[in-house]
Amino acid sequence: MSPSTSITRATAPAKIILLGEHAVVYGKPAIAIPVMERQAEVIIEPGRPHAGIVLHAENLGRRYLLDAVPVDEPLAFTVRNVLRRLGIRSEPDLRITVTSTIPIASGLGSGAAVATALVKALSAHLGARLSPEQVSGLVYETEKLHHGTPSGIDNTVIAFGCPIWFRRDTPPEPFNVGSAFHLLIADTGVSSPTRVTVAEVRGRWSAARSVYEQIFERIGTVVEAARLVLESGDAPALARLMNANQELLRQLDVSSPVNERLIEAALQAGALGAKLSGGGRGGNIVALVAPESAAAIQDALMAAGAQCVFQTSLEPAP
Ligand code: PMV
Repeated sequence: MSPSTSITRATAPAKIILLGEHAVVYGKPAIAIPVMERQAEVIIEPGRPHAGIVLHAENLGRRYLLDAVPVDEPLAFTVRNVLRRLGIRSEPDLRITVTSTIPIASGLGSGAAVATALVKALSAHLGARLSPEQVSGLVYETEKLHHGTPSGIDNTVIAFGCPIWFRRDTPPEPFNVGSAFHLLIADTGVSSPTRVTVAEVRGRWSAARSVYEQIFERIGTVVEAARLVLESGDAPALARLMNANQELLRQLDVSSPVNERLIEAALQAGALGAKLSGGGRGGNIVALVAPESAAAIQDALMAAGAQCVFQTSLEPAP
């Protein structure tokens, strides 16, 4: 396998968890969707002879020679993992440029998206065709560096690039929606590491297992119903299920006043349904909206203190 002499480019979208966060860690299903409006991009060009691999990640604040950074630096780790998987022992001379429009540490899967674009671009540049499952598996290794023991939902939805029904330890199921769903994603501006909220839930679960397991069970039931309404294209039903999921997330104590303020503002301004997305205690909220009321709801979210709000939609595959 010899490296391409031309330029190879790959992108990967951001993601959000639509339903099922936290319960997914305990074996329940969750639904995640790609967010095409925010992307990571990797460009690979032939490097200077004998220069090795040089990584430029200026907007992530990094520029370095692969060999000059610790082995667990995420980008370098990902590159080495791909080379190992492809059986390439001697480092090719490459210039790798990484850029991303995905905010870091905000529940949009920035780390997984950068790693996915990197795995796709590097493997293609070196002449290998990896399946979405293989890309996802490699990215999961990088995710473990960022997040400890993640469920694997981020790497899966980003590598597949379509809505995913995800359950731990079972093959992910890509699925299609029955009609377009319009969503607003609003950032509370409060950064909240997922590993902290996951650990807090674990502590509460250890102290009162049966209470927490009932909540996880009910979240699982909501997610099962949501898949059917997504497939049939029923927005009002999805909205009710998002609201029911949010109530259960409150019971898990992963919501917070900032999440509640934005959810309330969205609902008051006419959103059909709204919930937190991801780890909670800050991070993002997601609201399901009718397209004609999206602008007014976006304004209401900003007035309620959102740091940034953007629209995305879930479209049926052609
Ligand atoms: O914060 P995010 O969007 O990466 O989502 C975390 C989702 C959890 O279920 C809370 C954790 C996990 O690993 O699935």
